[in-house]
Amino acid sequence: MTATLAAALLLLSSCTGVTNSDDDGAVEGASAEALVVYNAQHEKLAEEWVEEFTAQTGIEVVLRNGGDSELSNQLVAEGDASRADVFLTENSPAMSLVENAGLFAPVDPATLDLVPEKYRPASGMWTGIAARSAVFVYNPELLDESELPSSILDLQSPSWKGKWGGAPSGADFQAIISAILETQGPEATAEWLTGMKDNATVYRNNIVTMKAVNAGEVAGGIIYHYYWFRDSDSGGENSGNTKLHYFGDQDPGAFVSISGGGVLKSSKNSVKAQQFLAFLAGVSGQTILGEGYSFEYPVGGDVPAKDPLPTLDSLNAPVIDPSKLNGPEVIDLIMQVGLL
Ligand SMILES: [Fe+2]
Repeated sequence: MTATLAAALLLLSSCTGVTNSDDDGAVEGASAEALVVYNAQHEKLAEEWVEEFTAQTGIEVVLRNGGDSELSNQLVAEGDASRADVFLTENSPAMSLVENAGLFAPVDPATLDLVPEKYRPASGMWTGIAARSAVFVYNPELLDESELPSSILDLQSPSWKGKWGGAPSGADFQAIISAILETQGPEATAEWLTGMKDNATVYRNNIVTMKAVNAGEVAGGIIYHYYWFRDSDSGGENSGNTKLHYFGDQDPGAFVSISGGGVLKSSKNSVKAQQFLAFLAGVSGQTILGEGYSFEYPVGGDVPAKDPLPTLDSLNAPVIDPSKLNGPEVIDLIMQVGLL
């Protein structure tokens, strides 16, 4: 890197207040006053949040980026010695893992009041900051509307062999399986996963799954809604040949996954950390979700979802306490059937 480029980057990071890193270097070098956020939410969304938060408060934030399971396991391994002040995820199971290890401080009651009870755990040890819905993306050239599955559970039947795909190695898909586990129990979930192993093509992630459906490689796939809306909003290159089917009817396939935010008990910046969480759940943070590129659902501050998303209430999702979702058991079951 040239000296000029390095200086420009330094200037950029000091302007925005964001220092962004996917290794530990930035965290180790962070000043004692800087908030350190272990961020498993999408980087672009987290950066949008941090830029606005820093502009409003002057508080510097360092993002340590990674995936849900990577960062939750790292927090558990670090325990009270962690430099993390705040943890943000895409899905609830990673929050539960950290909650069950006793590492979260209770969220400020005023912050909890910003988020309806159904979008946060009853324990109050973390809160929902966004939501996403499972959907069945399909290619109408390969699948007639009359042939669509009425439940995600149908996809285990032999009639679906070779007709659908998903990404069981990702935390997104694993959260959907955790909803099957919570609503149907371990035996039914193991059977469903065995059906998936027989029937489905395994893809690396949601985007690759959607691309395969779009290209007609496979008739349908299970993904989260926002991948489709983002692509559609930017011209539909990877989604233009596809449609979305919502399971509704409180089906486990209509699962709405709650993205979480929590403050670590060991934080030495807990006042600022609670302030950041209040910002995320409040009107400013939720408006960035509701108006920005993300297409994830706002859950707090009465901020509406971005057009043309169907409202969250209209999706008729199953009612699940997000802190009950059992990530480690899901991974065990996936490994037992050989999908991982
Ligand atoms: Fe995602």
